[in-house]
Amino acid sequence: MSLAKSIGYSEEELRAIPDEANLALSCGNPTALTSLKEGEVALDLGSGAGFDCFLAASKVGPKGKVIGVNMTSEMIEKARNNAKKSRISNVEFRLGEIENLPVVNNSVDVVITNYVINLSVDKLKVFQEVYRIMKPGGKIAISDIALLKELSKRIQKSIEVSGLKNVKVTVKGSSSCIDPNTKDPIGKAILGGLGEGESLEGYVVSI
Ligand SMILES: C[S@@+](CC[C@H](N)C(=O)[O-])C[C@H]1O[C@@H](n2cnc3c(N)ncnc32)[C@H](O)[C@@H]1O
Repeated sequence: MSLAKSIGYSEEELRAIPDEANLALSCGNPTALTSLKEGEVALDLGSGAGFDCFLAASKVGPKGKVIGVNMTSEMIEKARNNAKKSRISNVEFRLGEIENLPVVNNSVDVVITNYVINLSVDKLKVFQEVYRIMKPGGKIAISDIALLKELSKRIQKSIEVSGLKNVKVTVKGSSSCIDPNTKDPIGKAILGGLGEGESLEGYVVSI
């Protein structure tokens, strides 16, 4: 089963969006968590190559609009090319940070986001920005990871004490789970930081 299917995307949804938009960097399907109606304005925080924007665009229809915001020009260019190739005209990609959204006040019906807020160094600012740009009664659908409890000092320090230098992380498929028999040095270091009988599931959840 593909990663996208295993985290909540249907075959029909996957068929409808450009292949290049799927970076395999998602952790859920935010458009499935909320209802998007024709004519609504949706905003995707950290839109990457446009995966969820294109799904949302088909739901809000030609009278609606989807805005994707991402902080790298590389992703914005990729997303714009995907929209152009697939002739999807009700999406717009804007370069910007989710802590300082390039979006006017009270203008968005539904905010979606997939595996991005956890990366922000100022999550409070992100939610303040969401509040600012959302219309009264607006909705937010978040797919992300969240800690259920603080990681033990042992786990937090597991990478530091492993003695690894010049660490390069290569994401292969799902980045949110670690095979207990992994040979990857970083995965091994993280698992090595767990106490007797502990598992990562007690610390991290994908929602
Ligand atoms: C894990 S990827 C997820 C991409 C997309 N949501 C998906 O599901 O395919 C995270 C994306 O968020 C962007 N990003 C991370 N922090 C950001 C920030 N503070 N403001 C805007 N974009 C951000 C990254 O450039 C990257 O494209």
